[in-house]
Amino acid sequence: MGILFSAPQYEYDVIREEWLKSVEKIGQQGVFVGGAAVSKFEASFAAYVGVTEAVGVGNGTDALFLALKALGVGPGDEVITAANTFVATVGAIYHTGAVPVLVDCGESYVMELDSVRAAVTSRTRAVIPVHLYGQMIDLGEWQVWSEETGIAIVEDCAQAAGASVGGLAAGSFGIMGCYSFYPDKNLGALGDGGAIVSSSPELLARLRQLRNHGGELRYRHDIPGYNSRLDPIQASALQLKLDRLQAWNKHRREAAGWYRQRLEGIDGLVLPAPVALDDCSHVFHLYVVRIAGGRRDELKKHLQKKGVLTAVQYPVPVHLLPAYADLGYGPGSFPRAERLAGEILSLPIHAGLTEADVAFIGSEIQSFFAATATNVSGRT
Ligand SMILES: Cc1ncc(COP(=O)(O)O)c(C=O)c1O
Repeated sequence: MGILFSAPQYEYDVIREEWLKSVEKIGQQGVFVGGAAVSKFEASFAAYVGVTEAVGVGNGTDALFLALKALGVGPGDEVITAANTFVATVGAIYHTGAVPVLVDCGESYVMELDSVRAAVTSRTRAVIPVHLYGQMIDLGEWQVWSEETGIAIVEDCAQAAGASVGGLAAGSFGIMGCYSFYPDKNLGALGDGGAIVSSSPELLARLRQLRNHGGELRYRHDIPGYNSRLDPIQASALQLKLDRLQAWNKHRREAAGWYRQRLEGIDGLVLPAPVALDDCSHVFHLYVVRIAGGRRDELKKHLQKKGVLTAVQYPVPVHLLPAYADLGYGPGSFPRAERLAGEILSLPIHAGLTEADVAFIGSEIQSFFAATATNVSGRT
């Protein structure tokens, strides 16, 4: 079968028995939207992140959109985010009627405060730092800047469940943090799901209204709202996975260490910086390497032939996608994001990846580079 890129199936097998029992209980109770399983997960997740509340919603895109709506972001406003994020971050801004303002990433793929500062205008209402690939941006300095400028920080934590810096979790730095529970995320449901975390009572109250047709009580609609709710069948899976998140993230870091042992020192291959096993600032949602010299696609094909599935997150930066052509950017607007898009390759990483898997992938990558080096020097 080869080596899978991510393994929601492995996680399913781990929780299967307990989860099926919860589903049976939900079925017997007959509460299929909201209910005890959702409230329990929301409370557990809020405690895990270290905020007062988590509001479960339909998916991570809705989490971002509803967070911006709760802040009152709309036409005439600008919201800053990364050019190399997943398209959903930008879509969420766009659909509020605000203008997405993009910035280039730093050399380690994530946004930097200096670029954000340079993109601020009198219309800037919020910034969405994206903890891309599971790498948490230390937002300490950002918080000071946010207080000084009044520009709200809404964290995109979709790829960073379980990440923390100095004991503070992703989502607890900004006024709100937005999570996706898409199945292959570090904390993934068995379908779509998402949550917004916050400690602001006003925003939390508004979010609970927005996700449920504008009101918390049936047939009382206080504001125009949406329908975006986490369901108990997903919440009960998330509850079981939350108990294992720390251990699974540690396994991902261990796997990153195995990759480093096998791949360090290969000319033309750039690895992520080493991360200690107990350092939660990186939860390796993705293990992204870089291949210079235009050989990324060749290596991807080579691995695929050997049964190793890889991915590119993301092959086209958002500003070059047809959907966002009207933002007014073009080739050359964000040189680093554009260059990296042609060089990055995500290798398999997940809770079920074994050292033998990594050894196999490592030897295939080594032989790819050895063959190319021989060809280039003309010795074959
Ligand atoms: C960085 C980022 N933001 C937002 C999202 C959107 O989440 P969802 O797919 O749950 O809508 C995702 C994941 O898909 C993501 O990776």
